[in-house]
Amino acid sequence: MTTIPESMTLRVTQTQTLNPLVRLLRLARADGGVLPGYSAGAHVRVQVTLPNGTSDWRAYSLINFSTITDATAAPTEYCIAVRRDDAGRGGSRCMHTIAQGATLAVQAPRNEFPLQAHTGTTVLLAGGIGVTPLTSMAAQCRAAGTPVRLHYAGRSRTLMAFLPELQALLGQDLQLHIDDEAGALNIPAVIAGCAPADRLYLCGPQPMLDAVLAQAQALGWLPGRVHFELFAAPAVAQGDHAFELVLEQSGRTLTVPADKSILEVLIAAGCDPMFDCQRGECGVCAVAVLDGEIEHRDYVLSAREKSLGNVMHTCVSRAKGARLVLDL
Ligand code: FES
Repeated sequence: MTTIPESMTLRVTQTQTLNPLVRLLRLARADGGVLPGYSAGAHVRVQVTLPNGTSDWRAYSLINFSTITDATAAPTEYCIAVRRDDAGRGGSRCMHTIAQGATLAVQAPRNEFPLQAHTGTTVLLAGGIGVTPLTSMAAQCRAAGTPVRLHYAGRSRTLMAFLPELQALLGQDLQLHIDDEAGALNIPAVIAGCAPADRLYLCGPQPMLDAVLAQAQALGWLPGRVHFELFAAPAVAQGDHAFELVLEQSGRTLTVPADKSILEVLIAAGCDPMFDCQRGECGVCAVAVLDGEIEHRDYVLSAREKSLGNVMHTCVSRAKGARLVLDL
């Protein structure tokens, strides 16, 4: 049974255009009271209205630059930043139209991307708006006096949010990789620069994440040394096609269009699938596959598990062929 957690009604106390694509919003209770606390890497889910009039939830990482100990334990505001994606499903466009003074339904913070205790340097790697959870991580490391380094990659300086704040927070421990300044991200160099005791936390677009994970794996890194979060639900990939979905137990046959996930189709058909992250990271939406070839796109299964072809994650993975049969 999938339940939507209870939400709070928060007021937008400030909006700020940080650059042509990114907008910052501050959210607080109407009475200015204390909000549920959070730790670095946490996000809130905000209810958005999509262009077709339906509502949905979008996750936004909580931003913090304060190095006061326990700065986020009892906050009176949440700060989030939204990158507008004109090719997306409309959630970010909605968030770019929200005016100061408006109210939003917001679920309490959750953290699926926490910092882990370790002895080396916390190496942070951000691609674009993926910097948002890493702001809080950098601040938490500074507050704790533990070593931290942030690699921040972007296409151009004007599109990279929070540069002044990060420079003030991190000084020499901020390393910029800016495509149009001939400083594009060199993933092998970043990985090679990590000492054995260091942990790597990355957040950014899927191609960057895939490239870093592949490089780390090629160098024999154990999975526990790399922690990651995609900053958005995976988009439709080139070549995605519609396919038939047979639900063996209930005897139903559905069609999954090229631009919808299996999970979305199951929900629209009135099924009650288990799910959480919707990014292929948590594993909650796993289902058994009885027939058909799977296009695996999750970050949960090992290469061996993927090759067995009997389990898939419905939020991101698809059919390679024209038909899949699920044990549902
Ligand atoms: S909902 Fe998290 S992997 Fe699918």
